[in-house]
Amino acid sequence: MHTKMTTLITGGTGKTGSILARLLHAANRPFLVASRSGQAPEPFKGVVFNWNDPTTLENPFKADPNIDRVYLIMPRGMDLLSLVAPFIDLAISKGVKRFVLLTSTQSFAGGPAHGKVHQYLLDKGVDYAVLKPSWFMENFGENDYSRIMEQNEVSSATGDGKIPWVSSEDIAQAAFNELTAEKISNKEYLVLGPELYSYDEAVKILSSVIGREITHRKNTVEQQVEEFTKIGMPEAFSKVLASAQNRFVAQGKEAAFMDAPEDRKYVGKRTLEQYFRENRQIWIKG
Ligand SMILES: NC(=O)c1ccc[n+]([C@@H]2O[C@H](COP(=O)([O-])OP(=O)(O)OC[C@H]3O[C@@H](n4cnc5c(N)ncnc54)[C@H](OP(=O)(O)O)[C@@H]3O)[C@@H](O)[C@H]2O)c1
Repeated sequence: MHTKMTTLITGGTGKTGSILARLLHAANRPFLVASRSGQAPEPFKGVVFNWNDPTTLENPFKADPNIDRVYLIMPRGMDLLSLVAPFIDLAISKGVKRFVLLTSTQSFAGGPAHGKVHQYLLDKGVDYAVLKPSWFMENFGENDYSRIMEQNEVSSATGDGKIPWVSSEDIAQAAFNELTAEKISNKEYLVLGPELYSYDEAVKILSSVIGREITHRKNTVEQQVEEFTKIGMPEAFSKVLASAQNRFVAQGKEAAFMDAPEDRKYVGKRTLEQYFRENRQIWIKG
């Protein structure tokens, strides 16, 4: 007899969370979609949950007392542990046994931002998986979107560095595998796409798919900070992101993740060209 088996999907209306919801639905697994609005696409069940409002953290457990596993997506920012630790403690007290945490390739246990939450899970001794995705393909339709539409270009401080672009589908699949496995892996690993492309190479593929030339402006870190703040990112976060573009991508560290040992990476199937083709209407004008 199954008693507790509901998955709580934080960030459940976001890129990876919404796909995870569809995968769990297709597999006939119970789940609850958490986000600030509390909305979920029919026929899914949603709940109001806001990291910045502690009074909402208990809502999921009131809505479904059978939650025993959580997909953890954190909001943007640097001081994440103070927001997330009270929820992790609460979840454990309500019977949650496993956590799947999404961080990023460069994050490490005990490091800044996501890294502190990673370490917190280790310290709690719960069952866990930490998924460390590379750059999302979907950035071309989000962060890079307005510049593509307005100026036919993208900008970055990545230079000629290559990235193992990964799709939200592949990340959600990795999360699904961990959440539904009989026994979770209790590991951290990279989540990568199948191919390496620099920004120059990526926009060449995009150009051929949409029939319009998109170029890549190679910015300095300072110029890129300005770009990020223009699209509404907080300044401190813009600085971290722009300098990461330079330190990790331009200097080849992101590309080197492709050579990680098999047991330290999950390599997805979806290619960047597939993503551009299936979503080409995003960048078509008029
Ligand atoms: N983009 C990349 O290249 C990249 C690379 C590596 C790692 N990552 C990591 O991926 C994660 C983002 O995952 P994602 O792309 O699946 O999500 P996403 O598409 O950015 O969506 C964010 C989700 O969180 C919810 N949310 C936002 N603020 C919230 C708050 N204050 N309280 C509760 N919920 C909130 C949003 O819903 P509502 O707006 O309805 O609340 C939405 O469901 C981040 O941790 C990021 O660092 C991104």
